Amino acid sequence: MTQDTLLAPAAGDLAAEDTRWWRDAVIYQVYVRSFADSDGDGVGDLPGIRSRLPYLAGLGVDALWLTPFYVSPMADFGYDVADYRDVDPLFGTLADARDLIADAHAHGLRIIADIVPNHTSDRHAWFRAALAAPPGSPERARYIFRDGRGPDGAQPPNDWESVFGGPAWTRLPDGQWYLHLFAPEQPDLNWENPEVHAEFADVLKFWLDLGVDGFRVDVAHGMAKAPGLPDVGHADQVEMLGTAVLPYFDQDAVHGIHREWRRLLDSYDGERIAVAEAWAPTPERLAAYTRPDELHQAFNFHYLTAPWEAPGMREVIEESLRTAEAVGAPATWVLSNHDVKRHVTRYGGGERGLRRARAAALLTLALPGSSYVYQGEELGLPEVLDLPEEFQQDPQRLRGEGAGRDGCRVPLPWEGEEPPFGFGAGAASWLPIPTAWRDLTVAAQRDDPGSMLALYHEALRIRREHPALGDGDLRWLTGPPGTLVFVREAGDGDRRLACAINMGDRTVRVRVHGSPLLASGPLDVDGEHVHLPPDTALWWDAEEIA
Ligand code: GLC
Repeated sequence: MTQDTLLAPAAGDLAAEDTRWWRDAVIYQVYVRSFADSDGDGVGDLPGIRSRLPYLAGLGVDALWLTPFYVSPMADFGYDVADYRDVDPLFGTLADARDLIADAHAHGLRIIADIVPNHTSDRHAWFRAALAAPPGSPERARYIFRDGRGPDGAQPPNDWESVFGGPAWTRLPDGQWYLHLFAPEQPDLNWENPEVHAEFADVLKFWLDLGVDGFRVDVAHGMAKAPGLPDVGHADQVEMLGTAVLPYFDQDAVHGIHREWRRLLDSYDGERIAVAEAWAPTPERLAAYTRPDELHQAFNFHYLTAPWEAPGMREVIEESLRTAEAVGAPATWVLSNHDVKRHVTRYGGGERGLRRARAAALLTLALPGSSYVYQGEELGLPEVLDLPEEFQQDPQRLRGEGAGRDGCRVPLPWEGEEPPFGFGAGAASWLPIPTAWRDLTVAAQRDDPGSMLALYHEALRIRREHPALGDGDLRWLTGPPGTLVFVREAGDGDRRLACAINMGDRTVRVRVHGSPLLASGPLDVDGEHVHLPPDTALWWDAEEIA
């Protein structure tokens, strides 16, 4: 049996589905460069994704978020866009994008494109024009150019740091400086300029007309800067997914842009959505991005960074639910993405990391709201920590040892005994895949009921079918120390699903009134109780709330 026939359910019919699909969608993040390579050049591409749609539909996710595939010099792997209305030749053509969207829809999968509005590439036509134009010109007014400080303007205009390290300003030969919160190849746009608003509205329409179901908004907290660009006043300002209060992130003015975009999305049929990648100091500030007239969802990095211990985790979950509910938005849950160390490794690596990642999958997929799955987490991929120096390319690596994000972007192993494990037809992949991943390929896990892939497959099936999962409320039950126990109830109170996770270091006894549905690891059942080992989670169909 091929993997496609084994995993493929009947294709969904998007048009006939209930509305508000995004309130409980499971959205799979495709890091385009590293998913599947159709032309053998070692880099993933759009036709590669298209060829693997049966796998994704079979896994049971609802939508795909594709990282940027637009024309780009790739200084930040596509997050430096030179042309927002075309596909980079490395990834395919506009026709490939159109075909992928149509084919995904035929498989019952929605497509979320990644839009990068905080900055362009330095090769974007606008920035080239700005460089060619004099200080004070309308061309420069689309970006953030300033004169420097000090007697001859040789000091940067303020003390802001780039997320990738070093000053956030670069000086031009004519003496002016331009702002880049990320790499120097990513100049920040000036969102006080109406031309920038008009251009992005047009870009969004371009992709909406092509059929995308929504956008992931890159650095959605960055477009508005504090008036006067004041100094921060202290060092160590910014980190990826950070929570620091800064004059260049999470400014109130940014919400005006999101309101404008919401009106645009609402003018289209088919419930097109937007999800904010916003780094906010608190869950409250994060929820503001999902007020009814703003974006639909925001990534919950407070959950991603929560410690592996029950009280801390519970606090983050409660606060996320409370703040999302206060604005009427669904909470979202995410464990990994292309910017952070993979969670198998964050949770301790090896057997323990894997055990925890399995338990975390059940916890995450049982929580109310929408969940994100980063490609490869369904295979239990760890971070690759020993990538040879010559392969490391992420601009963030310049922040120092271990700071690079290449290790979570290693291509997916699909099948076979040798790298690149069916990733592409060529002999190599842009980042080398560890030989040890031969045991982690899709093909190796597909028929193994104890595999991570089988766990995700089963959890997603239950999540789709069980009326108590997805959108709704959660009720905490009392469990032994070190555990989280909660129940989800269907609207009519008829069906309940309970989840228990043991985040402590000793086996505990939990009362399970009902029938066990899915466990993340081995456990003993003893009448109405289970002995739940450390780092293990269980779902059961709850007959009553204990
Ligand atoms: C976001 C992306 C990250 C990128 C940065 C700059 O945080 O997720 O990969 O480097 O924005 O665009």
